[in-house]
Amino acid sequence: MAFRARVLGAAAGGGLPQWNCGCENCGLARSGAIPSLTQSSLAVSADGETWAVLNASPDIREQIAANACLHPTGPRKSPIRSVLLTNGDIDHVAGLLSLREQQPFTLFATGEIHGVLSANPIFDALSAEKVSRQSIEVGTPFDLLEGMEATLFPVPGKVPLYMEAAEVQTDLEGEQTVGVELVCGPERIFYIPGCALVTERLADRIRGADLLFFDGTLWTDDEMQRTGVGTKTGRRMGHISMSGPEGSIAAMAEMGIARKIFVHMNNTNPVLRPVSPERAEAEAAGWRIAQDGMEITL
Ligand code: MLT
Ligand code: MN
Ligand code: ZN
Repeated sequence: MAFRARVLGAAAGGGLPQWNCGCENCGLARSGAIPSLTQSSLAVSADGETWAVLNASPDIREQIAANACLHPTGPRKSPIRSVLLTNGDIDHVAGLLSLREQQPFTLFATGEIHGVLSANPIFDALSAEKVSRQSIEVGTPFDLLEGMEATLFPVPGKVPLYMEAAEVQTDLEGEQTVGVELVCGPERIFYIPGCALVTERLADRIRGADLLFFDGTLWTDDEMQRTGVGTKTGRRMGHISMSGPEGSIAAMAEMGIARKIFVHMNNTNPVLRPVSPERAEAEAAGWRIAQDGMEITL
């Protein structure tokens, strides 16, 4: 048994390039000068044969095609045993609609995230006979795969964009945004693709981890405004930024985490340009920037 993780999609919602965006990064990706990235998803395995997919992105069909470890081994025989959702955002759930072809798997999420799915009848396309929806209590370990235990825990975040009311709490800690702790043999791995703030509680949990995949949406809180693509701050979107005294790089500098990898990068993030000073700064601080197809074996 060895832990394997394959980054299926390293970008945040929208991907790189995003369909309606002509920002610097999207232009570079279109011209092939920097790699294009699909939307947020990670596959994990304890035996290299059966896999769990963490978040079902709208690009999942293409992601499965691009990663041979997820190819079917016979007619209607997928190595994907389970899918786990960390929130109800479109970039993390829309791919479920592409998994509707009478394939058995287990769908793990908190009760509230399952509630979001059940409130949308289009997800009934996943046959109740084949897809077992299991509600997971935060803090209670469960078997994600044979040989891999998972525990969900609340991280500061918000409800999905399409469910926002007039007043939005952006540091809500409950069942709407969760992180995942994986235990595989002696290894402790964390997957936290969306997080508004590194709280004391979160810091205590992830300290000393063997591997961390963490929210790399933005470099600076005002990046959407700076690049002219929007008016929202990172804080308003429920995403901590990488840089600055309140950013994730500073917050996690002294936590003894063996491997730190940013995932869920927004297309405006300068770290997506391999020769940028921001990428150099993140790497000098011990972080790697995920790419589609990146594989980590422990
Ligand atoms: C986010 O991570 O903030 C969301 O994916 C935004 C969205 O749904 O477009
Ligand atoms: Mn997202
Ligand atoms: Zn763009």
